Amino acid sequence: MLKVKGLHAQINGKEILKGINLEIKPGEVHAIMGPNGSGKSTLSMVLAGNPAYEVTEGTVEFNGKDLLSMPPEVRSHEGLFLGFQYPVEIPGVSMVNFMRAAVNAKREYFHQPPMSATDFLKMMREKRAVVELDNKLASRSVNEGFSGGEKKRNEIFQMAVLEPRLSILDETDSGLDVDALRVVAEGVNKLKNDNNATIVITHYQRLLDYIRPEFIHILYKGRIVKSGGPELALEIENRGYDWIKEEVDNQ
Ligand SMILES: Nc1ncnc2c1ncn2[C@@H]1O[C@H](COP(=O)(O)OP(=O)(O)OP(=O)(O)O)[C@@H](O)[C@H]1O
Ligand SMILES: [Mg+2]
Repeated sequence: MLKVKGLHAQINGKEILKGINLEIKPGEVHAIMGPNGSGKSTLSMVLAGNPAYEVTEGTVEFNGKDLLSMPPEVRSHEGLFLGFQYPVEIPGVSMVNFMRAAVNAKREYFHQPPMSATDFLKMMREKRAVVELDNKLASRSVNEGFSGGEKKRNEIFQMAVLEPRLSILDETDSGLDVDALRVVAEGVNKLKNDNNATIVITHYQRLLDYIRPEFIHILYKGRIVKSGGPELALEIENRGYDWIKEEVDNQ
């Protein structure tokens, strides 16, 4: 589904990603961990097509197509979803209108007619239930005045509505209380199937206890320096990153 090869990217002339290789197949859940500033959010931004980042080398194939040549909205229509580390507020735009615009833009891309108002509201209700999102939030402007945890839950709600092939969740767990963490993780698990895949970026084992990724990757200084199974996350939890940093820095 996703094949990243030798990806280098920079921002303001500073190279952040220094040769990322990553392959993700349908049905898989991968976790990306790594110290602050290692390039995790940058990788998600580059995959989503944030124009602030310049790709200088490498290729990214998404469902057999060249991802890097697609504008951001086409990446989204093709099934890529990014849940932001810091979700943006969009005052004056209601959740309903925002989501309807997103859903219908995708339908138009696939030459389908817009969804009827009744069908759309029915779907919103069903998807809201997945993440137990309060109706009051859904009727407000996008993220405006939402608490940190409400914003994160709202990201998973949007993911549920858009039914992406590949979801990248950038620290969706940070700022969540234990109950919200469980709801968000259960939401991710409910949406999981054999045709989609998820990348969770996290600092904490806590989320991985619920989501249980098969593959763990450690990003450090713009490269994936270690990959393994769930035991790698436990090792990080116990030992921190110093041993990995030493291994890499002494090479
Ligand atoms: N606009 C920018 N200008 C200059 N440097 C930037 C910019 N955006 C990101 N960086 C730098 O790129 C590096 C990687 O940042 P990134 O946000 O990808 O890290 P991260 O792994 O997501 O960290 P965290 O765990 O703290 O979220 C950091 O050193 C950061 O300062
Ligand atoms: Mg980050």
